[in-house]
Amino acid sequence: MPELLPRTQLSQESVFARMSRLAAQYSAVNLGQGFPSDAPPAFLQDAARHAIGRFDQYSPPAGLPALRTALGTDLGVNGQDIVVTTGATEALNVLALSLYGPGDEVLMLEPVFDVYIPQARLAGADPVTVPMRLDDAGWAFDFETLERAVTPRTRALLINTPFNPTGTVFSREELLQVVALARQHDFWLISDEVYDELYYGEKPTSLRTLAPERTFTVGSAGKRLEATGWRVGWIACPPGLSGNIAGIRQQGSFCSPVPLQAAVAAALPVARAEGFYEGLRQEYGERQQLLTGGLKELGATVQEARGTYFLTAQHPAWEAEKLVETSGVAVIPGSAFYAAHPVPAGLLRFAFCKSREQIGQALEQLRQRP
Ligand SMILES: Cc1ncc(COP(=O)(O)O)c(C=O)c1O
Repeated sequence: MPELLPRTQLSQESVFARMSRLAAQYSAVNLGQGFPSDAPPAFLQDAARHAIGRFDQYSPPAGLPALRTALGTDLGVNGQDIVVTTGATEALNVLALSLYGPGDEVLMLEPVFDVYIPQARLAGADPVTVPMRLDDAGWAFDFETLERAVTPRTRALLINTPFNPTGTVFSREELLQVVALARQHDFWLISDEVYDELYYGEKPTSLRTLAPERTFTVGSAGKRLEATGWRVGWIACPPGLSGNIAGIRQQGSFCSPVPLQAAVAAALPVARAEGFYEGLRQEYGERQQLLTGGLKELGATVQEARGTYFLTAQHPAWEAEKLVETSGVAVIPGSAFYAAHPVPAGLLRFAFCKSREQIGQALEQLRQRP
């Protein structure tokens, strides 16, 4: 028998999937994987029901024209510059295949979202991670450390704001420094903004607004509209580049499920008009407080999230693998986000996109069966 290529070893079952599997096995409360416990809004579900029977055949690989237009309006870009993808995960993979290859280096911050490293390697490039600092004041970005990591081989920087898992929202000043560096060394910027509507303070700056000529922005209807299983994502490309990017995207699944593209197209303006995102922020802001208060009472050090629906916390006695078995609470170990640098002691990621009942239940179980 011929052997599988070594690249098939690059990513095994993700820790997110494993913790969800263990959560099911131990009937644990799942504060691990980042999917909401609430159903998607009725206006989105109704739009999907309406679309089936009307939008059932292929769309162009760049996406259903109505969705590209709706995204263009929503994001303040030309709809022609949008490429619709099957979730943000595919968007990131399409960009990896389009922007870097053998001999190239890709900069990314660590802790790092799990697909960034294997996707860079599958594209033949070398991921270079730059550590965030964690001290008593919380997470911090050290521009000088990033600057030192740039080499003549740097082809792209992949940044995520709001940032999973730290909850960091990068300031406009920090992003301006990043843009200046990218212009000085002439590399691409990929800005993963799947949590763009989930913030609990200042509205995040979109990197594209600071460097439209070199920024690819990645988004996700799953994250915005509480429908992670629908797999509708997108890339907002620098002007004139979407045709080439769609050419790579078309080699994967050709196009994304068309009724769901149509439903997202119809739902985006409704979400704005009805204040859906404001409601989401209000609700998740309160759930974060509930979780933070409870974790602190149990002796954890909690880093406040300014965005996303995750927070990190440290507790000297908690280990994710053991907690799921002993306390019946599934969370993600900090090690899931580290590849090259030491994991901060006792680091865990908690998702607060779960119901208040689930959060309360998890806290109660941690209290009773630590
Ligand atoms: C930072 C980040 N980027 C991308 C994704 C993938 O999004 P999607 O579900 O749309 O593929 C996630 C999902 O958790 C994420 O946290």
